[in-house]
Amino acid sequence: METDVATLARQTFNLLVVDDERTLRFTLKESLTEEGYRVTTAADVAEALEVIEREEIHLALVDQKLPDESGIELLKKIKAKRPETQVIIMTAFGKFANAVEAARAGCYDYVGKPFELDHIKLIVHNALKETRLAEEVTRLRAAQRQKTGSTLVLGGSNRMRKLFETIQKVAATGSSTVLLQGETGVGKELFAREVHDLGLVREGPFVEVNCSAFPDNLLESELFGYEKGAFTDAKRTKKGLMELANGGTLFLDEIGEMSTGLQAKLLRALEGKRFRRVGGTTDIHVDTRIVAATNRVLKELVEEGTFREDLFYRLDVIRIVIPPLRERPEDVPALVAHFVAAYNRELGKTVKGPNDDAMGLLMAYGWPGNVRELRNVIERAILLESDEWILPEHLPIEIVGATGSGTQVLEARLNREGGITTLAQAERVAIEMALAHAGGNKTRAAEALGISRQTLRTKLKEYRIDSLAGHGG
Ligand SMILES: Nc1ncnc2c1ncn2[C@@H]1O[C@H](COP(=O)(O)OP(=O)(O)OP(=O)(O)O)[C@@H](O)[C@H]1O
Ligand SMILES: [Mg+2]
Repeated sequence: METDVATLARQTFNLLVVDDERTLRFTLKESLTEEGYRVTTAADVAEALEVIEREEIHLALVDQKLPDESGIELLKKIKAKRPETQVIIMTAFGKFANAVEAARAGCYDYVGKPFELDHIKLIVHNALKETRLAEEVTRLRAAQRQKTGSTLVLGGSNRMRKLFETIQKVAATGSSTVLLQGETGVGKELFAREVHDLGLVREGPFVEVNCSAFPDNLLESELFGYEKGAFTDAKRTKKGLMELANGGTLFLDEIGEMSTGLQAKLLRALEGKRFRRVGGTTDIHVDTRIVAATNRVLKELVEEGTFREDLFYRLDVIRIVIPPLRERPEDVPALVAHFVAAYNRELGKTVKGPNDDAMGLLMAYGWPGNVRELRNVIERAILLESDEWILPEHLPIEIVGATGSGTQVLEARLNREGGITTLAQAERVAIEMALAHAGGNKTRAAEALGISRQTLRTKLKEYRIDSLAGHGG
C-alpha cells in the first residue's frame, strides 16, 4: 500500500547504482526512477567515489565484484565519507562470503543475483524508511534541545572558543576517548553531547551512565548487562549500556566515583573493545566512543590511590578542562541572554534582561554552582518578578551581598575596626548596607533609608562613599 507521504519522501532521495554490467545499471536505473527516486550510476569504485564527492547520496546499491576494487571497499569508503548513507551489496554468488565483514562495516543488507526487481525495490524502500527515521530523531533531538534551552552557548571568552574548536577537531577524529574535567555545573554534560553530535557517530546512540548513581554491583550489570540466571533477579537476559552504545557514544559521568574493582573491569573492556555480560560466557564486541566526565581532578585521585593509574591513562587521551564561570565573566552576558530568551519562551514572559546594575552584579559574582546556578537565578527572576527588567533586588542575597560592595565585606570591616563608636559611623554603615542591598541603585537605597535621593547624595559626598556606589543607578 502506498501512502502519499511515502511517495513524497521518495522524490527527495538520491540513489547510486554501482555495477560494471551496463544492462543491469540500465534496468535498475529505469525501474528505480519509476519509483520516484533520483538515480545516478557508476561502473566502478573510482567513478562511484566521484559521485559521492559531488552529491549527497542517501542510498547506494553496490555490486560486490567491481573492476577496480571490491564492493566492500567501496562500502567502507562511503561510510567514512557519509556514515548515514545506506549501502546495499549485490552479490553474484548465492551465498555472500563476507556477510559478517560487510555487516560490521555498516552494510544495510545484501541481495544475491539474479534478483527480482520487486525485491530490490522493497529493500531500498525499507532502508530509506530507516534513513527517514534517523533524520527525524536528529531533528527531534535538536528541537528538544532548543526547547530545554540546553544548547551550548559560547560567550565572549577566548578560552571557551578555543575549547570548542578543540571539541570540533576531536569529534571529527572518530573514536578517540575524551575526558571532561570541571567543577559542578560548568557544562560537562553539554560538552559530552557536543562531542557526540559533532562527530561521525552522531547518528548512533548517545548513552549516559552516572557512575555515582548506582551501588557497585548494580553499576556493573547496568554497564555490561547480564545473562538470564546470572543472579536471583536476572529473570531474562538484559543488554548493558555499553552494548546499547555500540556505534555511538557512551558517556561515563562522574567516573571518579567508580569503585576500583569495577575500574579494572572497565579498563579491560575498553582495551579489548569487548566484554562479557554478567554471568555470560561469550565476548561481546563493541565499537563505542567513550566520553568520561568528572568534577574531581582525576590525577589527584590517582595519587590518593582511589583511581587506577592505568585506567586514568586509558581515559586521559584528550583532556578537556572546562574553566569555572568565575574565571570567564565575559561569558556571563551571552549566557544570561540565552537563559532569558529560553525562560521567556517557556513561561510566556517578555522580560528584557538584567539592567546595568544587575548585570554588573552577575558578572562580579563568583558562581560556585557555575552555569547551572546562573540558569537557576535567571529562571527564578523571570518566574517570580513581573518587571520589564531584572533588577538587583530580584537577585538572591548572596549575589548582591557577596560582591565588593556587599554586606559581608562591610561586616568584616566593622569587626576589624572594632565596631561602631560614633553616630556618624553608624550612619555611614547604614548607607553602605542600603547601597549594597540595592545593588548600588541610589534611588532604592534612599527609599530603604527613608531619606530623599538629594539627602543621600549629600551624605555620600560627606562620607566620600562615591566609589562604593560605582555600580551607577
Ligand atoms: N556553555 C553553556 N551554554 C549553555 N548552557 C550551559 C552552558 N554550560 C552549562 N550550561 C547549562 O548549565 C547546566 C549545567 O550544565 P551540565 O549539566 O552540563 O554541568 P556539569 O558540568 O555536567 O555539572 P555536574 O558536574 O554537576 O554534573 C545545564 O542546564 C546546562 O544546559
Ligand atoms: Mg553532569
